[in-house]
Amino acid sequence: MYFLRFLFRRKNGESCGRQLRRMASKQAVPRHHQNNVSSTKKLVFIITCAGLLGAALIADVLWTSSSSLSSSYFSIASTWAIGRTKLLVIPDSSTHNATQVDEKEIDSRSFLPGTYFDLPAPDLEWEEMPSAPVPRLDGAAIQIKNIFYVFAGYGNINYVHSHVDMFNFSDNTWIGKFDMPKEMGHSHLGVASDGRYIYVVSGQYGPQCRGPTARTFVLDTVTKKWNSMPPLPTPRYAPATQLWRGRLHVMGGSKENRHTPGLEHWSIAVKDGKALEKKWRSEVPIPRGGPHRACVVANDKLFVIGGQEGDFMAKPGSPIFKCSRRHEVVYGDVYMLDDEMKWKTLTPMPKPDSHIECAWVIDNNSVIITGGTTEKHPITKRMILVGEVFRFDLDSLTWSVIGKLPYRIKTTLAGFWDGYLYFTSGQRDRGPDNPQPREVVGDMWRTKLKI
Ligand SMILES: *[C@@H]1O[C@H](CO)[C@@H](O)[C@H](O)[C@H]1NC(C)=O
Ligand SMILES: *[C@@H]1O[C@H](CO)[C@@H](O)[C@H](O)[C@H]1NC(C)=O
Ligand SMILES: *[C@@H]1O[C@H](CO)[C@@H](O)[C@H](O)[C@H]1NC(C)=O
Repeated sequence: MYFLRFLFRRKNGESCGRQLRRMASKQAVPRHHQNNVSSTKKLVFIITCAGLLGAALIADVLWTSSSSLSSSYFSIASTWAIGRTKLLVIPDSSTHNATQVDEKEIDSRSFLPGTYFDLPAPDLEWEEMPSAPVPRLDGAAIQIKNIFYVFAGYGNINYVHSHVDMFNFSDNTWIGKFDMPKEMGHSHLGVASDGRYIYVVSGQYGPQCRGPTARTFVLDTVTKKWNSMPPLPTPRYAPATQLWRGRLHVMGGSKENRHTPGLEHWSIAVKDGKALEKKWRSEVPIPRGGPHRACVVANDKLFVIGGQEGDFMAKPGSPIFKCSRRHEVVYGDVYMLDDEMKWKTLTPMPKPDSHIECAWVIDNNSVIITGGTTEKHPITKRMILVGEVFRFDLDSLTWSVIGKLPYRIKTTLAGFWDGYLYFTSGQRDRGPDNPQPREVVGDMWRTKLKI
C-alpha cells in the first residue's frame, strides 16, 4: 500500500482515503443541498480514486501473487466508481469484533482498513534473537529438546531451500546445517517427531507453484541420516500430519492441482524411524480438507486447527509453473479425534487462521499459535496476515487472544524453551497499518510466556 499512498498523495495532495472519509462525514447533509459543481468535482475525484486503486492493484504485484489478478479486482474498481455517493463511516477496530464481519453484511461501498481484522490483544515484550541463516516461507520445523530443526522453504518465489538449519535454544545460536535428500519436497511438507526421528511427508517439489511429491522420509536426528518410507497413496500439499498412538497420521492438504482440498486421511504404523507396514491405511476422512493447518496431539487426542480450502495454482501452460492466485477460504475450525475415532467439532479459533502448520507449541496444557493468514479483505480482496498469539486451553477447549507479535506474519516456525515462546521465519506484513504480506524473513524473536 505504500505505493498506493504515494500515488494518491502525489496526484491529489491528499490521500483518497482521507478525502473520501471527509466527504463521508458530510453525508448527513441531504444531497439536494449540495451544489452541482462540487458534486461533479467529487464524482471526478471518486472515479480518479477508483481508477488509481485499480491501477495500483495491478502495478503492486506481490511476489506470492501473480500477474494474473483475479477479475474481482476489476469489479471492485467499478463498484467504487458507482457506489461512492453513499459512503459509510469507517468502523473502529477497537469496538468491532472481527469474527462478526460477514461479507454479506458489509456494504460493498464501505471502506474498511485492513487493520479492522486485528483483534484487541495485550502487548508482549519481544526480544530479537539471532536471525536464521536464510529467509524462509512455507518451511517446516520440529523442536527436539533444546534443538530446533528448521527445514526447507522458499527463499524467494523462484528459489527453494534443500537443507535443514539448526538452532540451539540453550545458548541461542544457529549451530549448523545439513542437506535434505534430493528427492524430498521443498515446501508444504507434513512433519512430525517422536523425540528422535523426524518424519517428513509429501509436499511441493521445486519453486513457484510446482507439483507435489508423494515421497516420504525419516531423519534420525542423532546420526543425521535420512531413510525412505513408503510414499503416500497420492501426493498432497501441506497435509495435517502427526504421530498418534504409534501411527503416523496424514490428512487433508491440497490435491495434485494445489487447489482442490483433499479429505482423505491415512496412517501407517511406525517405530524408531521405521515403517512397520508396507502401505498406508485409510482412516476416517476429515470433515473439511485443505492445507496449512496445525495438527497437534495432546492428552492422547488429535486436534486439527484452522487452515484453508484452495490455494495459488500453477498458471496453465507456464513453463516455470508460475503461481497464480485462486479463490481461497480460510477457516478457524477445530476438529478432534479421540477413542471413538469420530471427528468432533470444537469451538473455533477467535478468527479464521491458516498457514499455521508449524506455528504452534504446547505449554501449560494449552496450544499456543503465532500469526498466520486470515480471510482476505472483503472489499479489496487483498491478503491479510495475522499478528495475534492465540491460546487454546486443552481443559476447557476454549480460545483466548494472549498477545501480539512484533508484526503480523504467516508460516512462522514456533518453539518453546525455558519459559520462552520463540518464533522465526515467514512472510511479514507491510507495517503497522498494512497487514498485507511483503518481505520473507528469517528473523527470530522470543517472549517470556506467562499463561
Ligand atoms: C467477539 O465475539 C465473541 C463471540 O460472539 C465474544 O465471545 C467475544 O467477547 C467478542 N470479542 C469482542 C472484543 O467483542
Ligand atoms: C547447546 O548449547 C549448550 C549450552 O551452551 C551446550 O551445552 C550444548 O552442547 C549445545 N548443543 C549442541 C548440539 O550444540
Ligand atoms: C497454567 O495455567 C493455569 C490456569 O490458567 C494457571 O493458574 C497457572 O498459573 C499456569 N502456570 C504457569 C506456569 O504458567
